[in-house]
Amino acid sequence: MRMCSSVPTALAAALLVATLHAQVQVQIDARPIPRLVHQNRRFALFVDDAPYLMLGAQVENTASWPAMLPKVWPAMEYLHVNTVEMPVYWEQFEPQPGIYNYTMVDTLIAEARRHKVRLVLLWFGTWKNGSQHYMPEWMKLDTDRYPHMVGKDGNAVDSPSPYCAASLEADKAAFAALMRRLKQADPQRTVIMVQVENEAGSWGSVRDYSPSAQKLFDAPVPSELLAAMHIESPSPSPNWQQAFGLDAEEYFHAWSVASYIGQVAAAGKAVYPLPMYANAALRNPFHPGPPGHPGAPGAYESGGPTDNVLDIWKVAAPGLDILAPDIYETGDDAYLKVLELYRRDDNALFVPETGCPGCDRFFFSALGLQTIGFSPFGMDYTRGADFYRWTLHAEDSTQEEFLDPWAMNYRLVGPMQREIARLNFEGKLQAVAEEQGKTTQILPFGSWDAVVSYGAPRYGEGPATGNPKPIGRVLVAQLKDNLFLVAGYFCRVDFRPASAGKHRTGEVGTEQNPSALIDGKWRHRQFLRVEEGTYENGVFKLLRIVNGGETDWGLDFFGKEPMVLRVSLATY
Ligand code: DGJ
Repeated sequence: MRMCSSVPTALAAALLVATLHAQVQVQIDARPIPRLVHQNRRFALFVDDAPYLMLGAQVENTASWPAMLPKVWPAMEYLHVNTVEMPVYWEQFEPQPGIYNYTMVDTLIAEARRHKVRLVLLWFGTWKNGSQHYMPEWMKLDTDRYPHMVGKDGNAVDSPSPYCAASLEADKAAFAALMRRLKQADPQRTVIMVQVENEAGSWGSVRDYSPSAQKLFDAPVPSELLAAMHIESPSPSPNWQQAFGLDAEEYFHAWSVASYIGQVAAAGKAVYPLPMYANAALRNPFHPGPPGHPGAPGAYESGGPTDNVLDIWKVAAPGLDILAPDIYETGDDAYLKVLELYRRDDNALFVPETGCPGCDRFFFSALGLQTIGFSPFGMDYTRGADFYRWTLHAEDSTQEEFLDPWAMNYRLVGPMQREIARLNFEGKLQAVAEEQGKTTQILPFGSWDAVVSYGAPRYGEGPATGNPKPIGRVLVAQLKDNLFLVAGYFCRVDFRPASAGKHRTGEVGTEQNPSALIDGKWRHRQFLRVEEGTYENGVFKLLRIVNGGETDWGLDFFGKEPMVLRVSLATY
């Protein structure tokens, strides 16, 4: 009897210890789930319960395979990223219907932890660049069950139908399985966000013309969309053509693709609510068409979250937190316009892919619009990345030369990314990049204006002329009324007392200091103390005080070495 009773007691005790241990483990390891916070018309991505700025890079499409990873991590280290964007391939994840293979995703998480970076996983599901190239083979071979879109001429298009319930259900189930795995395997929150599909939509046809699609096109537009778009029509329930006229076909396709992806996102979120987003292959915001080639939808990717259909996506896919632009060769004006278009009161700015000569500096423009992250594409040492560089005519530069301009940004901001994210969320930070033909930019901060100039003369005389190529970039944050954080490259920053009235920048000598006429007296800027330093664990560490000749004409950021200044100001 005794023995019988003591065995269960011992067992129970052991079980209790094991359970307690497991609970303690879970409590220690499970960190808060990353989330997007919207407050005072500003957004922040909260990771470990504090604003986080993704200093990201995306690997080339085929670089997530475990055998490729040794060519990924050295590039990420060189770049000083804190977040890597890596695809998860549906075809690899579900090789047979309902059988999921977690090896790749588990490897990515383990390796990312080892390299002390976070991950954004890209679900290459039903859509990848408008096509179904990452659907599992068993789906690709069964086109009756998982059909393609049909073009106007009745032929199949290289794009999946957004009306196929079987594809939708399969994608929802697989994506939910992925999220379930992340929930179980990642209490540390190594994965901080998930992209649902990749550049969805279709090339070559503005919409699906299959009989089932046509039936929907002729049916009434959903009332929630009519209300959101403020459509007034003589008909109480207009069809797409009646409601949207010339835009009808594109809007219809956007609604269909967004509804599908919204359902995939919702299925994943129901399991594990990480922030989720969809990315867009852009049209040119000034001349609709792919970059450099004006044209109608279908010539650019129709149906994806392009700038003209963001309202439709917001209604159709509430499960997505962010609609994000992939910005490639658009030209500088269009680049900046795209940033503006995607930073909305209902949409945080996030640039999940970018690449073009000189656009590394636009990381600062994105920061100025409170971006939650930025991520150049094709940043690894695989052959695929070499191919991508070749498409950019950059094959003559070494891998490091190609990465350098991006690495500079992250080397500068990396040690203070948490402070930058917080200051930005609090509305205390402004950041800009040099624009062709604009030699000076004024950043107003209450009683001070920060005056940024590019290509300023070495000594005080004469106006700034701009850098030979526009490469300047800078951020300025107000820490206290008269205390500023300034960091950047290839620019000069000075401060002048703000005044609605007259300003002068001064001449050589003591009068060089920027001044403003306030109540009939010239008030001149004085640098009380210019500290060069670096952030360590959230604390500014002084390296030296720079009150010598280097600051006589302002704060000069030249050369490629990071320089962070904390500047206290007064007037005399
Ligand atoms: C945009 C896509 O989203 C990426 O997956 C990749 O294909 C790049 N284009 C290549 O330029």
